Amino acid sequence: MSPTSSSRRRFLKYFAGSGFTTVAFGWMNWQAMSLTGESAVAAGSIDLDDFCLKYPFNSRCEDYLPGTQALTEADEPYLAAATLATATAGDRLLAKGLDDPAYLVIESGPSIADYGISAICTHLGCVVNWDEAAESFICPCHGSKFDAFGEVTNGPAARSLPLVTVVVKDDQIRLLNQEPSR
Ligand code: FES
Repeated sequence: MSPTSSSRRRFLKYFAGSGFTTVAFGWMNWQAMSLTGESAVAAGSIDLDDFCLKYPFNSRCEDYLPGTQALTEADEPYLAAATLATATAGDRLLAKGLDDPAYLVIESGPSIADYGISAICTHLGCVVNWDEAAESFICPCHGSKFDAFGEVTNGPAARSLPLVTVVVKDDQIRLLNQEPSR
């Protein structure tokens, strides 16, 4: 993602986090009430993961941690500050936490990208390895190769590695099993 689109999205999120999101949340709640006679908030039917991804600065999202905690291969939580203290731009770090492992992407800064890359090969489901020298993910099973962003460059896999959403908040790195919104 270019810095321009990144800062524009940050601005939009900030803008959206003000009065507009209060209206949006109220509208969603009103819609649920008119359909079911019950408050969506009370019924817990509004997906806070989705809502807080769209409106992270809404007051309801202040203390909310979306998704699941990213874990190291040793099942230790990845902490953002400690991870960035030792990471270098270009690194890809295997993280557990979702049903399937995914790679965290370290960007310049260094910083943690708002997306991760599934570690599951799209051919037959083996876990791909990150080859730092080749800047590629390589599947140990049948040799499929993917570039540093998960795009397939060598078969037999025909599809790129799916992306997941990554949220950094309160020094935690959270994973959500959905494509990041662009
Ligand atoms: S499972 Fe990865 S190439 Fe076959």
